[in-house]
Amino acid sequence: MEQQKYYITTPIYYPSDKLHIGHTYCTVATDAFARYQRLRGREVLFLTGTDEHGQKIEDKAHEAGVTPQAFVDNIVTGERGVMDLWKLMNISNDRFIRTTDDYHVSAIQKIFRKMYDNGDIYKGAYKGKYCKPCESFWTESQLVEGKCPDCGRPVEDAEEEAYFFRLSKYAKPIQDLLENTDFLEPRSRVNEMVNNFIKPGLEDLCVSRTSFTWGVPVDFDPGHVVYVWIDALSNYITALGYDNDKYQDFEQFWPADVHIVGKEIVRFHAIIWPAMLMSLGLPLPKKVYGHGWLLFDGGKMSKSKGNVVDPYILAEQFGVDALRFFLLRTFPFGSDGNFSNELLIQTINTDLANDLGNLVSRTTAMVGKYFGGTLPGGMEENTQEVDADLTAKAAALQGIYAQQMDQYAPHKALDEVFKVIQRANKYIDETAPWALAKDLQANGPRLARVLYNLLETTRICGVLLTPFMPESMEKLFVQIGACAHCRTWESAGVWGSLSTAAAVTKGENLFPRVDAQQALETLEQAAEAQRKAALPALEIAPYTQEQVDFDTFCRSDLRAVKVKDCQPVKKSAKLLKFTLDDGTGTDRQILSGIAMYYQPEELVGKTLVAIVNLPPRKMMGQESCGMLLSAVHTEQGEERLNLIVLPDAIPAGAKLC
Ligand code: MSP
Repeated sequence: MEQQKYYITTPIYYPSDKLHIGHTYCTVATDAFARYQRLRGREVLFLTGTDEHGQKIEDKAHEAGVTPQAFVDNIVTGERGVMDLWKLMNISNDRFIRTTDDYHVSAIQKIFRKMYDNGDIYKGAYKGKYCKPCESFWTESQLVEGKCPDCGRPVEDAEEEAYFFRLSKYAKPIQDLLENTDFLEPRSRVNEMVNNFIKPGLEDLCVSRTSFTWGVPVDFDPGHVVYVWIDALSNYITALGYDNDKYQDFEQFWPADVHIVGKEIVRFHAIIWPAMLMSLGLPLPKKVYGHGWLLFDGGKMSKSKGNVVDPYILAEQFGVDALRFFLLRTFPFGSDGNFSNELLIQTINTDLANDLGNLVSRTTAMVGKYFGGTLPGGMEENTQEVDADLTAKAAALQGIYAQQMDQYAPHKALDEVFKVIQRANKYIDETAPWALAKDLQANGPRLARVLYNLLETTRICGVLLTPFMPESMEKLFVQIGACAHCRTWESAGVWGSLSTAAAVTKGENLFPRVDAQQALETLEQAAEAQRKAALPALEIAPYTQEQVDFDTFCRSDLRAVKVKDCQPVKKSAKLLKFTLDDGTGTDRQILSGIAMYYQPEELVGKTLVAIVNLPPRKMMGQESCGMLLSAVHTEQGEERLNLIVLPDAIPAGAKLC
């Protein structure tokens, strides 16, 4: 067995909003790689976490009226937060780092000081734009039409004291690293880095800020906080115990085998991070892999576009394993892919329900039906061409799969597994076990062989699918009676590992077929409920700026009126017809658009407020003489109306002033 340490990481997530399916994609992929390495017998350390400092978080916390720490705690450890999501998605991380953890904070101060002491960090001036009234410092790109993005007023050139990291010094070694090694993959990202960032000239990097406080303070100059990327990137070593006593694994696990990151943050991982490590005199990670984005309608998912897809809703609807599988089966890992619910349902139905699900349920059902769950001894040898084809493909699968997984191509590895699953389903049609079963006396040994070949193929595929769908494959192993040894990596490369006497049981359907229309409707409802819940709980109409003079206001004749009768208006969903006592001795009729909020009978006897000197109006063919007053507000996106109800003691006709 290969015994080797293996260190793999995901990016650490910004807890500025709840995570969406794009974030889940990255973590599920890393989890599948980590599980694959464990399956291969390596001692894996899989790290994920959260990147909790910076101005954006400080601003969001301010908006929410809580401290930055309380804000991030809620998103990281709160209900349906980051940690809950990883638990739900069956993420097998060994460690979780939060950049607000004390050990990390003090390690960052030491790291910053080391780079300062060796001359790679120096104090300089950060040139930018200053808004005097807001006392805010902005970069050119933050301005809106050249003005302060907060107040819209003009800004002036200014300089702010800041620390800089000598990134320029490392341009040459980094270009060598990118161009002459396989440090960064896929290869297309190398050209992007070299052409867009290195060739135009790497400038020194501003690595401290004084304009906000939510960060790690520079301990020898406390007005400054460390730039969030210096703080975040260092997590990969502080989480192993570098410059702290919390962990002691640095010597064993560093350098990392791979940092899995999304394409937009490759720049930080492939340029800034190696430069920092060179400055600290530390070995470089073996690889950075920059995966593509999950797009939505061709664009990036973002909260502001309102197109974020909630992994909780999808996992609840389709199951965690089906969702994990879909993400890695469908989209080539190194490129962008378009997410859609339709595609998700189609993948579940084709690959999981039809191909894999059917293979398992047909095979286990036949072993039960023809042999009571255990194949008889004395099965025939593999003699036919179809046997040779199936067994050869199944036995060769492990090698092909490993090649693809080692190249971070899970979609291709899965493609290979499904080719074998499809081959096995075809084998059922070719060998027609039901026909053999008609004469068990004569065909028993052949039928047992056919079914064994199917069970064994299923087992091999099951082992290789474990990193993707761990829970479902456990269930599959129970159904085909696979022993502990038959679930190992080694056994997946050896045809015939499954005992011929394995106890087979047809269990629950592993992947039920999804009714597309029904599922899409349920998803739509869940998304709608979530959109509503995200709307402000309570909204009141904006105040009118225009003033009304006192005399004009007093010309409105407001009176207390008593409801004598109230009826719905035919063909109108909105209107109620009121017969009112207004104190004059003659009944007054008013029509009011409040049928959605009240039952007519509950209003009879109430004392309401009416404006009585409005000109009469016809509504739905009936006359309305005045208007009843209500209070209006919006709750969770829906308008609410409440009639103004006066105490009963107020007589009809009393004037309101
Ligand atoms: N905090 C930084 C990472 C610091 S690592 C030292 C960060 N956080 S993030 O929360 O914004 O993004 C985390 C990861 O999620 C990134 O790799 C990013 O590419 C990935 N994704 C975010 N949206 C995504 C998609 N729509 N599709 C695929 N991955 C996406 O960046």
